[in-house]
Amino acid sequence: MTQNSKRYTITAALPYTNGPIHIGHLAGVYVPADIYARYLRLTGNDVAFMCGSDEHGVAIPMRAKKEGVSPQDIIDKYHGMIKKSFEDFGISFDNYSRTSAEIHHKTASDFFKKLYEAGEFVEETSEQLYDAEADQFLADRFVTGTCPKCGHEEAYGDQCENCGSSLSGTELINPKSTITGNTPTLKQTKHWFLPLDKYSDFLNEWIVEGHKNDWKPNVHGQVKSWIDDGLRPRAVTRDLDWGIPVPVEGAEGKVLYVWFDAPIGYISATKEWAAREGKNWEPYWKDKDTKLVHFIGKDNIVFHCIIFPSMLKAHGDFILPDNVPANEFLNLEGNKLSTSKNWAVWLHEYLEDFPGKEDVLRYTLTANAPETKDNDFTWKDFQTRNNSELVAILGNFINRVVVLTHKYYNGIIPENTGDYEELKQIQHFPAVIASSIERYRFREASQELMNLARLGNQFLQANEPWKKIKENPEEVKGIMYVALQIAAAIAVLSEPFLPFTSKKLKHILALDTDLGWNDISQKEEFLPAGHSINEGELLFAKIEDKEIQAQLDKLEATKKANEAAHKKAAPQKDIATFDDFTKLDIRVGTIVEAEKMPKAKKLLVLKVDTGLDTRTIVSGIAESFAPEEIIGKKVTVLINLAPRKLRGVESEGMILMTETPEGKLVFVNPDEKGVNNGATIN
Ligand code: MF3
Ligand code: ZN
Repeated sequence: MTQNSKRYTITAALPYTNGPIHIGHLAGVYVPADIYARYLRLTGNDVAFMCGSDEHGVAIPMRAKKEGVSPQDIIDKYHGMIKKSFEDFGISFDNYSRTSAEIHHKTASDFFKKLYEAGEFVEETSEQLYDAEADQFLADRFVTGTCPKCGHEEAYGDQCENCGSSLSGTELINPKSTITGNTPTLKQTKHWFLPLDKYSDFLNEWIVEGHKNDWKPNVHGQVKSWIDDGLRPRAVTRDLDWGIPVPVEGAEGKVLYVWFDAPIGYISATKEWAAREGKNWEPYWKDKDTKLVHFIGKDNIVFHCIIFPSMLKAHGDFILPDNVPANEFLNLEGNKLSTSKNWAVWLHEYLEDFPGKEDVLRYTLTANAPETKDNDFTWKDFQTRNNSELVAILGNFINRVVVLTHKYYNGIIPENTGDYEELKQIQHFPAVIASSIERYRFREASQELMNLARLGNQFLQANEPWKKIKENPEEVKGIMYVALQIAAAIAVLSEPFLPFTSKKLKHILALDTDLGWNDISQKEEFLPAGHSINEGELLFAKIEDKEIQAQLDKLEATKKANEAAHKKAAPQKDIATFDDFTKLDIRVGTIVEAEKMPKAKKLLVLKVDTGLDTRTIVSGIAESFAPEEIIGKKVTVLINLAPRKLRGVESEGMILMTETPEGKLVFVNPDEKGVNNGATIN
């Protein structure tokens, strides 16, 4: 550590391992956290950037059940996938752990035991929702119903996603089991509660009073309204078989509430990392001079600002967060992101579809981050950010500098023959960008970085070295010298935002890798005269309309599939008597001939063997089937329908059809073997 360096513990919400990572997670949590961690390392701080998989979420056994595999299979699959996609995307965790790790089970267990022994819990037997058929208590995601606060009909047993209220299952109106759909009954069970009411004054003083000005208004406001509403004891155990067993006597069949164990995962991850690195984990969680910062999405605010701090306080050994810069939500093309509806841009798919363009997504998500309100990700905007900013401003500037340096000076930095104030202006950027980052304003910070590239472009535009090279080569040396210093500053200052680009750029400029953030404000020269740069390479390439269209098509297909999956069956018609039904003479038949009805788009003229005869039937299926593909098909025919003329052809019956959710017609096909034409259907 250098003189004014500090120790930081930075955490990013542990993602649930029941699905892959999407752009909403990235924009809300991981990209800002990564920018922050990279910036702090670059400025010489001691950083522990911790994350890992949250593997005890109740959605995990649910998903496993649905897919017919074990919960372990689910967590292994998604843990591997998430870990890899984070790595490929350049998220620079010092450790990416998982809550199924032994060290975590032990850490969480010990944490619970310590609180238990200190008498910090309230033990209470109460009536809880119970699904007799599934033989399971229904907490959290196992029960839905109407929110008593806002009337939202799909609130869960722990939280209403519409109004953000925290709930318990018994408060829901019209509760329903998500396992069987049954209405639950009540059954007695014992649980341990953390009496949050006891921490109300402490939380009020610490956050509502103490962090009025430095915490984000959305975070501060939510915490205040929770406290104003009155905090109540919260159960920290559950009757489930997936999770960390409650480590006390008389708790058989019970596990720790996932939101009790998961945040402790930050501590376990730190321990695991420290052991691996031969460090001591304790200062990162116990030293008052360590700055702890939790990066989360807004749905996690209560857990990180009320429950976890109360746990830490009750425990007594640990520091509290210095800040919890929660973000709002990112939408996708106007609709809420959803793992279950597959309405997302999945990170692993993006990395496949746009190889080498990690920084483009990082930049787009940062420049458009949902910092103060929900924001929309659109592919059009993604394309514009790339083409008009990364390519046209940053890429263009670097490209001109590198090409001209090779052309005029064989890649060797010329001497500074001028006196340009831009050299001084560069020095302001580290502080300006740092100030935005330190206030968690990453959008603003990314724009300041872009302004440095703009400065470079304007400088070249104003001085036009390409026009002066003939008559005034001495002046051009100075111009190019300054432009090269700007390029070097960009190489260093872009690292938190665009780590892949920064690396490439440092290579192109053959920049001393020790050159740090603070050097940019303290030195005037980063590339001395006589230094050789390398050949240029493309930093950003234009993204074409057809690539964007392919992504939009993919989303359109998802939308169609969702509509199809949710298409409601038509309501039942009026009652038909048995006699009504027996009047209909429905038979098995075979299509023996088929041809198009001349000048009619929709009609085919069929000859159908009904077992009684071969008759003509005109059918409105020409848009779904070509005549030749249906000859020989077994079909269901209504044979005593009153004959009628269609375009002059008499039709003596009707082929029964149905349709797929996408609206494609299909035959009602009596495909069982051994059924003869003429067999009646009744
Ligand atoms: N898995 C939770 C979510 O995705 C976040 C857990 S954060 C932690 O909403 F603090 F509990 F780890
Ligand atoms: Zn609600």
